[in-house]
Amino acid sequence: MTKLWGGRFTKEAEAWVDEFGASISFDQKLVIQDIRGSMAHVAMLRSCDIISEEDGHKIHDGLVTLEKKAANGDLEFDVKYEDIHMNIEKLLTEEIGEVAGKLHTARSRNDQVATDMHLFMREETEEIIGLIRDLQRVLVGRSEEHTETLIPGYTHLQRAQPISFGHHLLAYVEMLARDADRLTDSLKRVNVSPLGAGALAGTTFPIDRRQTAEALGFDGIYENSLDAVSDRDFLIEFLSIGSTIMMHLSRLSEEIILWSSEEFDFIELDDTFATGSSIMPQKKNPDMAELVRGKTGRVYGSLFSLLTTLKSLPLAYNKDMQEDKEGVFDTVTTVKGSLKIFTGMIDSMIVQEKSAKKAVSTDFSNATELADYLAAKGMPFREAHEVVGKLVLHCIENDIVLAQCPFATFEEASALFEEDIYEALDPREVVARRNSEGGTGFTQVQQAIAKWKERLDI
Ligand code: ARG
Repeated sequence: MTKLWGGRFTKEAEAWVDEFGASISFDQKLVIQDIRGSMAHVAMLRSCDIISEEDGHKIHDGLVTLEKKAANGDLEFDVKYEDIHMNIEKLLTEEIGEVAGKLHTARSRNDQVATDMHLFMREETEEIIGLIRDLQRVLVGRSEEHTETLIPGYTHLQRAQPISFGHHLLAYVEMLARDADRLTDSLKRVNVSPLGAGALAGTTFPIDRRQTAEALGFDGIYENSLDAVSDRDFLIEFLSIGSTIMMHLSRLSEEIILWSSEEFDFIELDDTFATGSSIMPQKKNPDMAELVRGKTGRVYGSLFSLLTTLKSLPLAYNKDMQEDKEGVFDTVTTVKGSLKIFTGMIDSMIVQEKSAKKAVSTDFSNATELADYLAAKGMPFREAHEVVGKLVLHCIENDIVLAQCPFATFEEASALFEEDIYEALDPREVVARRNSEGGTGFTQVQQAIAKWKERLDI
């Protein structure tokens, strides 16, 4: 079989070697981007008088036919033609004849593949931002519903202070907002056109790179042809942002898994997002949350894989760079899938208000409140801490909680205690009073919800 680049070769390639070098099995995902890039390129070749009007139209029409076929899944790719770029050229030749060969004037697969990846990344980045917004909206909705539902807040996974469940969910809304901001910012570097850089050095033809950039909706062009074809920073950046998104989801996964356990019992997952056991009839496992937590590992893997692939690569294009695609494609699928799963899972989970309330009423998460109470009455906080620590110890020894101590015990501990101490120990009060900016106090949470509703157009 003669290759598109076969002129310099004296021997036929061996099929098994070709197969090893081919990328068509995965880069066919770029078929639409590849065709669109070619359409912009051929229009430019024509308007710059590099090819004739007639040839330009023939090529354009052929590409339109291929695009339609691609949309219907009617294109057949062949590993013989290595990658999506040469497969499309081959299919175009079948469609319109030898004139198809003019399409590759003033272009290389190196600027072509980079262009395809930039177009792909732009679309996917925008879609992922949309999915983040969907999840944020659901989280804000559930926060509003559960502003006054109390759960213990934790540090070191030890009960620390009671908090509003809504406040807890809003922490994830903030994290996701940073993720969306990072993606939006990355578009500055994604939406730049490498097309026209040629193989590495530019071209002798009088091309107009600005025209193709504009036709493809890019905001600008790479200013150095070597950089244009060898830059994969935008993919590294995506994998890094994707890793951060997964890290956030994996932290929420872990909480969902804990909360849905009998030990915590703060939520129950909808059946859709849980699975049973083949042997233990009582089980309802939080599989989807576990899977998202697990998939975080492979996304980190893709980031490290590409960083390592690019390390020490001399300029400009090297075939190593073909390895950029699978990890990126996989990460796009994983991040999108995980965001969708979470949107459904959070939307449908049942919050076990009663058992959450029981948790905050039968623990020592109100101990800080007691120390604050004394400190507010003038006792140095350190001393107050010591007094309350002793009271907690007394309670543990007598198997009671602070609110169950008779007033005499408080009086004995400090003369500053008054009867209103019981009110102060009520978890609702404890939460309501944490009204410093950004705190869990109900007024603060309501303000945060109002802010997010406005920002997210809810
Ligand atoms: N399939 C190649 C890739 O994904 C396209 C670029 C090939 N360029 C080359 N000079 N071999 O990187």
